[in-house]
Amino acid sequence: MTGTGHACAKINISLDIVSKMDDGYHNMRMVMQSVGLCDELTVECVPGKGVRVNSGLPFIPGDERNIAAKAALAFFAHTGIENYRARIKIKKNIPVCAGLGGGSADGACVLRILDEMFETGLGRDELEKIGKNVGSDVPFCVSGGTRLAEGRGDILTDLRPLPDCSVVICKPPFSCSTPELFGRINCDKIRARPDTEGIIASIDKGDLSGVARRMYNVFEDALPRGARDISDIKYVMLDSGALGATMTGTGPAVFGLFDNVDDAREACERLKADYRECFLIESPASAVF
Ligand code: C5P
Repeated sequence: MTGTGHACAKINISLDIVSKMDDGYHNMRMVMQSVGLCDELTVECVPGKGVRVNSGLPFIPGDERNIAAKAALAFFAHTGIENYRARIKIKKNIPVCAGLGGGSADGACVLRILDEMFETGLGRDELEKIGKNVGSDVPFCVSGGTRLAEGRGDILTDLRPLPDCSVVICKPPFSCSTPELFGRINCDKIRARPDTEGIIASIDKGDLSGVARRMYNVFEDALPRGARDISDIKYVMLDSGALGATMTGTGPAVFGLFDNVDDAREACERLKADYRECFLIESPASAVF
C-alpha cells in the first residue's frame, strides 16, 4: 500500500511565551499560519515491523529520531495496527532547523496519509491528539490554516484566514537549538511582545497591515548568535515594501508579509544576493481539513 501527501511549512505571525509550566515546557500564545512551501511525502506500508525514513540528506536521521518515523509509530500504537513496516520517503523543500516546522509538518502528513491508507477515519481531532505526543507543533500541522495555538502549542482555535498576501521567507545559514533558546528565556523579563489580540482583531477585519505591524517573536531577543543577519534580512524586506517582517519559531528563518507581489519579488531577488535559501510564496495556504 502506498500513499502520498504534501507537508506545508508554518510561520509564526506572533510568538509569545506566557509562562513556564511545571513539566518544563512553556505555555505559548501564537498565531500560526501554514504556507505553500511544502515537503513531498510517500509512505509505503509492507508486511513487517518498524519504520524507516529516507530523505536523501545525510544529516536527517532515518530512524525513530525523525518526527515522521515517530508519527508512524504513534499511529500504529494508537490504532493497534501491527505487522506493517512503514517506508517513508521525503523530498525536503522546507529548510531544515529553520523555525518553519518542517519536521512537524512531515509528522502530521504521515498521520494524514496513514489515516487514509488504513481507512481508520480518525480525522482532524484524533490525529491532533496523537500528534501532541510526537511534537508540540504537530497538532497545528495536521490541518494547518490560520490558528491560535496555546498551551504547549496543542490547544488550537480556528481563526479567519489571513488576508491575501505574498510571503517572502529567507533562512540565514546557521541554526538555532530549540531547547537552548527556550532555556534562554526568562518569562519575567520579556522585553517586547507581539500584540496577539490586535493581530486576531486585524485578521477578523481583513486588515493585513494591522496584522503585519503587530507581529513579533519573543525569541528574537534570546538569540545566541545571528541577530545581525535577522535584522539585515528584516531591513531588506521592509525596504522593499514589506508591511512587516519577523523571525518564525525558534528561527533563524525570517518572513515578510507583502500586499504587492512585485515588492515581494524584489525583496526575494535582493536577499538572494546574500542568502541561498529564499522563497516567494504568492499566497498563504488554507486548512487541509
Ligand atoms: O515538543 P517538541 O519536541 O517540539 O519540543 C522540543 C523542545 O522545545 C522541548 O524539549 C522543550 O525544551 C521545548 N519546548 C518548550 N515549550 C513548548 C514547546 C517546546 O519548552 N511549548
